[in-house]
Amino acid sequence: MARVLSGIQPSGDLHLGNYFGAVRNWVQDQDTADAYFCIVDLHALTLSIDPGVLRRQTLDAACVLLASGLDPARCTLFVQSHVPAHQQLTWLLECTATMGELRRMTQFKDKGGGQESVRVGLFTYPVLMAADILLYDADQVPVGDDQRQHLELTREIAGRFNHRYGDIFTVPQATIPKVGARVMDLQAPDRKMSKSSGSPLGTVGIMDSPDEIVRKVKKAVTDTDGVVAWDPSAKPGVTNLLSLLGAATGQDPEALAGSYDRYGDLKGAVSEALIEALAPLQDHYRELTDDPGGVMAILREGSTRAAQVAEATYLRAADAVGLLRP
Ligand code: TRP
Repeated sequence: MARVLSGIQPSGDLHLGNYFGAVRNWVQDQDTADAYFCIVDLHALTLSIDPGVLRRQTLDAACVLLASGLDPARCTLFVQSHVPAHQQLTWLLECTATMGELRRMTQFKDKGGGQESVRVGLFTYPVLMAADILLYDADQVPVGDDQRQHLELTREIAGRFNHRYGDIFTVPQATIPKVGARVMDLQAPDRKMSKSSGSPLGTVGIMDSPDEIVRKVKKAVTDTDGVVAWDPSAKPGVTNLLSLLGAATGQDPEALAGSYDRYGDLKGAVSEALIEALAPLQDHYRELTDDPGGVMAILREGSTRAAQVAEATYLRAADAVGLLRP
């Protein structure tokens, strides 16, 4: 069985882009792969974040993922900082990657390139991510398009390390999901839905109430020609609504265009489908948040399992570079 690993930042309220683009695919991966999912709290420290908020959001991310259908009996869900090998391997990989490679990362350039006060961790972020992946001998890493460059770097680092020290790491592949991969901002359908850079009205959180969903979908930007048709470049707003409807109902989004004559009808169908798709998840979420001790126990067990794999890989790498065993 292939080993799959992915990570998600504990950035608070997940939105439909995270859910349809990533988390829902992870739920499926549990049945077809040996799956590891990591809440990357160390990565969250690369930007300013309040300690209390980070702590709360890390536990909350676990609740959301479990509510979405990750099942500790079928996957390993854990918190990055609970497995010290991530930080240990990062150093070995920082001594493998080069300044030039990291400087070319577009996410670094976007988030802080050029500023003197940028945290060193933001610069080395992709190396920690490489450690997350390589520690688990992951064959496949499901990520969004924006992480493709980091995956390429991971492959490069793994190849270089293996070339220098022997066959230590599995060189992973990125798997970019096919369906629902791109959920766009409802207010600016030419941009990906994003909590940090999107508009509040254009971003639907997966814990949004039915009223909020109706309000946001009703206000979604469309266009003026009044024809319901699938056309990503000429009609990005309508196309985004169709793709949300497709993702929420499991139907082919292009074929759905024929079923609606008016934007109002399409929007009504979209809100109804979203409310219905999210309701069970929201119920489950409330149960989990009522039992933080139970969620912590799941995370503890996850990190114990993860650490077994990660420590063995780290020792293999530490031996290979010549660190004396204690
Ligand atoms: N950088 C990823 C993001 O922001 C999160 C991440 C961290 C990750 N470590 C990972 C994703 C390992 C996949 C595998 O989306």
